[in-house]
Amino acid sequence: MRRMVKPKVFVTRTILDQGLNLITGYCDADVWPGEMPPGRGEILEGARGADGLLCLLTDRIDGAIMDGIGPQLKVISNHAVGFDNIVVSDATARGIPVGNTPGILTDATADMTFALMLAAGRRIVEGERAVRTGSWKTWSPAFMLGADFARATLGLVGFGRIGRAVAHRASGFGMRILYHDPSPVIPEPGVAAEPAELHVLLREADFVSIHTPLDNATRHMVNAAFLASMKPTAVLVNTARGPIVDQAALYEALRSKRIFAAGLDVTDPEPLPPGSPLLELDNLVVCPHIASASWATRARMSLMAAENLIAGLKGERLPNCVNPEVYAKEK
Ligand code: GLV
Repeated sequence: MRRMVKPKVFVTRTILDQGLNLITGYCDADVWPGEMPPGRGEILEGARGADGLLCLLTDRIDGAIMDGIGPQLKVISNHAVGFDNIVVSDATARGIPVGNTPGILTDATADMTFALMLAAGRRIVEGERAVRTGSWKTWSPAFMLGADFARATLGLVGFGRIGRAVAHRASGFGMRILYHDPSPVIPEPGVAAEPAELHVLLREADFVSIHTPLDNATRHMVNAAFLASMKPTAVLVNTARGPIVDQAALYEALRSKRIFAAGLDVTDPEPLPPGSPLLELDNLVVCPHIASASWATRARMSLMAAENLIAGLKGERLPNCVNPEVYAKEK
């Protein structure tokens, strides 16, 4: 009887068992054991000769890495919905499909967006610090006033899956919803959301939440002019990608109270260096990129990333492929 040779894959970090078990059952898997991401050299060394690569958003994967792994590389599966860490055009040029994990993290990310809106708008972290440090002395009528939610206007910059899920939550809070999205948008059933030009959205919104991918058009989109167009009472929330916000401009806007507060799940870099001036601000809530970090979501992400990887190894179409043009090229 002929022994089947298992495809060789490199997995750049330990992922949840649901996905990992699927991978180790089908593949000869080398899993990077570190808590910190492998460096470029370590990815090249670990993945050289691999048929498949499963990577995380902390790994930058470009053509040089793909070439170093070798011409047998059949698939790159990203354990994330965002894929700005991969130079997709380099993968497409080499006929390599790239997978991602859309849909399954929509609710968890929308929940986190709302948590940040509430935390920043109602000063929850600042208040908690006051209790812990003993600087809170007594209940007082004008103490720690923050934003209202009912009848406030939410401005969603980006109205894809996650933006829409945030809109549903905002409807429950009695908010008016505006959205701005340059791509054609179909209305979302059950939500009264109105399209708006960006300058109108920024002028009217009490909360501005970012739900766009990171690309050349959105890098530093939230700059000094963007922030200057917001209300002084407004709250900015970013659960998308750190580099969408110009952090020097955000620091200045928060420090000078040009805007009321911000809640960030993503920063540039991640983590912020300990001396970052942003960390001195009371009107900033910052979290460690955990929007998708719920039990079920991370389990599903590991499974979906494993399914993309295995489909690619089998020469099948990836269930979730960000560069389907690789299939057209085969014809
Ligand atoms: C997380 O940020 C993701 O893109 O999945």
